[in-house]
Amino acid sequence: MKPIQVGLLGIGTVGSGTFNVLQRNQEEIRRRAGRGIEIAMVADLDTTRAKQVVGDAVQVVGDARAIIANPDIDVVVELIGGYGIAKALVLEAIAAGKHVVTANKALLAVHGSEIFKAAADKGVIVAYEAAVAGGIPIIKALREGLTANQIQWVAGIINGTTNFILSEMRDKGLDFDVVLKEAQRLGYAEADPTFDIEGVDAAHKATLMSAIAFGIPVQFDKAYVEGITKLAGADIKYAEQLGYRIKLLGITKRTDKGIELRVHPSLVPSKRLIANVEGAMNAVVVNGDAVGTTLYYGKGAGSEPTASAVIADLVDIARLHGADLAHSVPPLAFQSSTLGAAGK
Ligand code: HSE
Repeated sequence: MKPIQVGLLGIGTVGSGTFNVLQRNQEEIRRRAGRGIEIAMVADLDTTRAKQVVGDAVQVVGDARAIIANPDIDVVVELIGGYGIAKALVLEAIAAGKHVVTANKALLAVHGSEIFKAAADKGVIVAYEAAVAGGIPIIKALREGLTANQIQWVAGIINGTTNFILSEMRDKGLDFDVVLKEAQRLGYAEADPTFDIEGVDAAHKATLMSAIAFGIPVQFDKAYVEGITKLAGADIKYAEQLGYRIKLLGITKRTDKGIELRVHPSLVPSKRLIANVEGAMNAVVVNGDAVGTTLYYGKGAGSEPTASAVIADLVDIARLHGADLAHSVPPLAFQSSTLGAAGK
């Protein structure tokens, strides 16, 4: 069967990670998906840099609309970010009958209702595992693994930049501004870092988790949002002396009055696992009525961790679209005599 044809919009940090991981793990991914996944086209304003990443085998264009207009492209991966051109392109891709994979939490948290409705009307998928907590498969955990539960609450460290800043201020006594610059240098921070430090990025992600956990529309405008800019080094030190760590938490919770959705600095007892999540790592705790409390931990940003989530969505789409599942999971080696013998 022909590999599923993918067009990438944007080949920066996450786009190049996606290309590299797909190349490196091509055979394994093909077996798991039941069908190959091929990046056929890449659009980027910087076509020279794009060509350096993907080489000659992939068509590089400067105009994203050339991808959307190509009838051979099955899936458009939007890695541009922001609400402007990204929104227009996602809606155009949907209108053209393409499935969409996006890491754009801002776009979905603010315009998700419009985008998901357009996708439902057209019968295409908009998948966004990479939009929340980078490489941690929290969207799939909420949607699939915990689907039997009434979710009671979700709480998490879902912004790596602010967690990195709080960790470095505590451990090294460094100033806020110095650590923020380092977070930008390491590629954790958003293009506009006020989204990180004012809690907006975490609120975008909490909004998406809330929608899935509680089956409500995406309502970023209802979130209470407070970042870490008002915290001083002394706050962090005193919290430590009292046996707490300050963490920027995104929280969404079922209450008698409705669903709470908030992001703010929180005092977490130092002995709690989540208090010990350091640096740019993310962690999400989910409580469901059947399963109890579960914890998910991992890299919330970065090239290949986020690519891991993008590709998971591509595999889902490939499986739904004509994949030869007889040849997907479990790996072929386990399907023959080993299992047969054990089953006798
Ligand atoms: N700026 C984000 C963070 C990137 O620091 O977590 C990943 O969404």
